[in-house]
Amino acid sequence: MDRPVKLGLLGLGTVGAGVCKILQQNREVISHRAGTDFEIAKILVRDLDKPRAVKVDSCLLTTDVTDILGDPEITVVVELMGGLEPAYEYVHAALDAGKHVVTANKALIASHGARLIRLAASKGVDLYYEGSVGGGIPIIKPLRESLVGNRIEEVMGIVNGTTNYILSRMTQEKADFVDVLAEAQALGYAEADPAADIEGHDAAHKLVILASLAFQTPISIHQVYCEGISQITAEDIAFAEHFGYTIKLLAIAKRQPRGIEARVHPTFVPNRHPLAAVHGVFNAIFVRGDAVGDLMFYGRGAGDLPTGSAVIADIVDVLRNRKRGAHHRVETLWQPIPVEAIGDVRTRYYIRLHAVDKPGVLAQVAASFGAEGVSIESMIQQGRGQDQPVPIVFITHEVEERQLRASLARIASLPSIKHIASVIRVEGGLR
Ligand code: NAP
Ligand code: HSE
Repeated sequence: MDRPVKLGLLGLGTVGAGVCKILQQNREVISHRAGTDFEIAKILVRDLDKPRAVKVDSCLLTTDVTDILGDPEITVVVELMGGLEPAYEYVHAALDAGKHVVTANKALIASHGARLIRLAASKGVDLYYEGSVGGGIPIIKPLRESLVGNRIEEVMGIVNGTTNYILSRMTQEKADFVDVLAEAQALGYAEADPAADIEGHDAAHKLVILASLAFQTPISIHQVYCEGISQITAEDIAFAEHFGYTIKLLAIAKRQPRGIEARVHPTFVPNRHPLAAVHGVFNAIFVRGDAVGDLMFYGRGAGDLPTGSAVIADIVDVLRNRKRGAHHRVETLWQPIPVEAIGDVRTRYYIRLHAVDKPGVLAQVAASFGAEGVSIESMIQQGRGQDQPVPIVFITHEVEERQLRASLARIASLPSIKHIASVIRVEGGLR
């Protein structure tokens, strides 16, 4: 009888513990489906004495990575540490040593994916990363395999569970940003440094991975425009509701005539749009292909068991490939495609100003918009200020971002304008 395939885990935090829990629960059926028996041979951690969310034999734990990378019997390395270093060094060394690698590390794949994919190909080993985007949602495999017959036109979605959890609670319960962030951290959704979630960097890493696969082009993190949710206020959420929208942090990649648009930012999503109904830790990703039309992938975007589910699926793929000698069976034929500057992107905008409430102010603002070719779709002014500035809110028609910026520069210089408080992009409906 064949000896079990040995796996080495790098990390036993939220996701590592999720993987171990699933293996303890469903081990027999997973081995059967993989067609091969397998076992966890070693687990790298920083602190041997830390309490763990899952019971594992203490002799499996090590703080010395060479117990995994230097063991020729460990043929599959599962990287669940996070961060760029030493994760990159360890994954590179594992591939270089001819080991297969499964990772859920989006920062790593977004920053070094192309190089690691080339290394895996040259060594004839697998590099899988389903858990890196959308938690438990299968999205990498559909883009890499199931949709190869399509020219993908658009990938757009909610890809960060922490920020969706925060925005949902702020919208539905008027909860406080800081309290809800602490809850998301306690639930294991947030990154080690939650600023990665809040400032949109985690979503931008995921967009790099999605867009590179969808458009078969090497996109760099520096080409993705990125804005987080830290500036979103209860006032903006209330105005969004007033206009029939919900604020979501969207990751958007679209094929345009001049190249690809790649951006992450808070967005007004119309309430009739299915993304507006994606709440809490759930993620949803739309994909539009020329043959298949619109697809939506929906599920839990973070957490131990959902992400563990995606990691286990990758491990089983590696084991199945291993059994059939079919490693590295997915071709990546990346061709360079330009990425548009944010100034060239066309979209609609919500703008909240604080202005002195006196005759002629609206006419001046309208003239400033008009001078740069910005056309107004809706507008409201709330309250009546005595000596206090009042909020005036506009939603524009679609316009190039550089025109919008030029009009805002004119408006900011008007003496009656105290402050441009918010500028948030507005997404349209489904075609
Ligand atoms: P985590 O809870 O912080 O766990 C990280 C684990 O790696 C810990 O066990 C830690 O050891 C170990 N580790 C970190 N640096 C190490 C080092 N230098 N040497 C040895 N061990 C080290 O992280 P996580 O939430 O499980 O996330 C892991 C990865 O999955 C990240 O790339 C993350 O972006 C990704 N991911 C997370 C989720 C989620 O819901 N959390 C979902 C999808 C993808 P100690 O325990 O001893 O400190
Ligand atoms: N911090 C990430 C999130 C984990 O909140 O979506 C899942 O990738």
